Amino acid sequence: MSILSGKNILLGVTAGIAAYKTASLVRLFIKAGADVKVVMTPASKDFVTPLTLATLSKNPVHYSFTNEEEDNGVWNNHVELGLWADYFIVAPATANTMSKMANGVCDNLLLATYLSAKCPVYFAPAMDLDMYKHPSSLASFKKLESYNNIIIPATSGELASGLIGEGRMAEPEEIVSFLENDILNTLPLRNKKVMLTAGPTYEAIDPVRFIGNHSSGKMGFELAKAAANLGAEVILITGPTHQKVAHSSIQVVPVISAQDMYDAAHQYFKNMDIAILSAAVADYKPKNVATQKIKKKDTTLTLELEKTKDILASLGQIKEKQFLVGFALETNNELENAKGKLKKKNLNLIVLNSLNDKGAGFKKETNKVTLIDVKENITEYALKSKAEVAIDIFNQIIKQIHA
Ligand code: CTP
Repeated sequence: MSILSGKNILLGVTAGIAAYKTASLVRLFIKAGADVKVVMTPASKDFVTPLTLATLSKNPVHYSFTNEEEDNGVWNNHVELGLWADYFIVAPATANTMSKMANGVCDNLLLATYLSAKCPVYFAPAMDLDMYKHPSSLASFKKLESYNNIIIPATSGELASGLIGEGRMAEPEEIVSFLENDILNTLPLRNKKVMLTAGPTYEAIDPVRFIGNHSSGKMGFELAKAAANLGAEVILITGPTHQKVAHSSIQVVPVISAQDMYDAAHQYFKNMDIAILSAAVADYKPKNVATQKIKKKDTTLTLELEKTKDILASLGQIKEKQFLVGFALETNNELENAKGKLKKKNLNLIVLNSLNDKGAGFKKETNKVTLIDVKENITEYALKSKAEVAIDIFNQIIKQIHA
């Protein structure tokens, strides 16, 4: 899966002959799973039609400050468009537009959108070879780079003028892979390996029965997705759940019992940089598992239970470089209990869930957490979706790793 999947890509088209190639570029972005919107300079419509790009991007294309079709004075909101984008790619980027952007000129919708965008901005210049080498173009590139914008270098080849040299816009495929590589290289968890445990464990009573719990696994799966989106290679060890994930950087290791989870966690832990144990592991399991289905005979049945191994504590004992995170689900004396677990299990960070908070805990779409680090710094978060909580947790981990 491409790193661009699910991302909002704003394509800015300016008036160069290479604009005809933006039809392919939009298709490649869509194929990568991105949502695409296009903003054009008025002159670029001579090279490619808004209808073509609107059809391919499945979104209306704008090129003026007011609604183009109905001419009814309805404003095309450049601020909204700029804030919507995760990435803004200006392709082709003409000398004229780049010079205007470098100097804050804002006399069309695309230029205004550029000034409103907070996301990374990429330029794929396209111009004749002498224009590309001109000191004023080089000055524009430099100035744009000083604003942290990124130039996708033009390539050499035959130009619209018939001359041969540097100035050809990078091919659409090259633009897409440039963008993918650049994003991957700037992700905060690139080259990091993250292990997660998720979901419940089932402890067999006999061949058809087990002791389990209501954990949905949702929090662990959201953590896995967040880690992968931040560039990590992820091992997701999960008990039985209905959660699904499809991401090339996430390897799912399905397990059933606490012992299976223990074995898998110990198999992978050595090579990990970060481990987050969010599974609701059974604390006890039947001491003897019946090999045949237990028949109902007496009015009562007594099961003898024995403790499972504490996976988190066992990893705390052997950890070296790993950043180890545990969860604590508490109903009373929450902060003190969580701090106690952090120390006892030798963790770097603990995520406290209080069952007293509405909207937190098992089988919910939301969660409310408090993070406690080894220095006992306490950060309390608002009630959020589990996907957002996962990002909060990783932001805190990244901050601590780089501290
Ligand atoms: N955990 C684990 N293995 C177990 C039990 C728990 O890895 N056998 C992990 C959980 O994944 C979680 C953390 O330990 O990250 C806290 O679990 P919790 O059940 O809240 O704490 P316990 O230490 O088991 O204490 P208690 O049940 O008494 O509150």
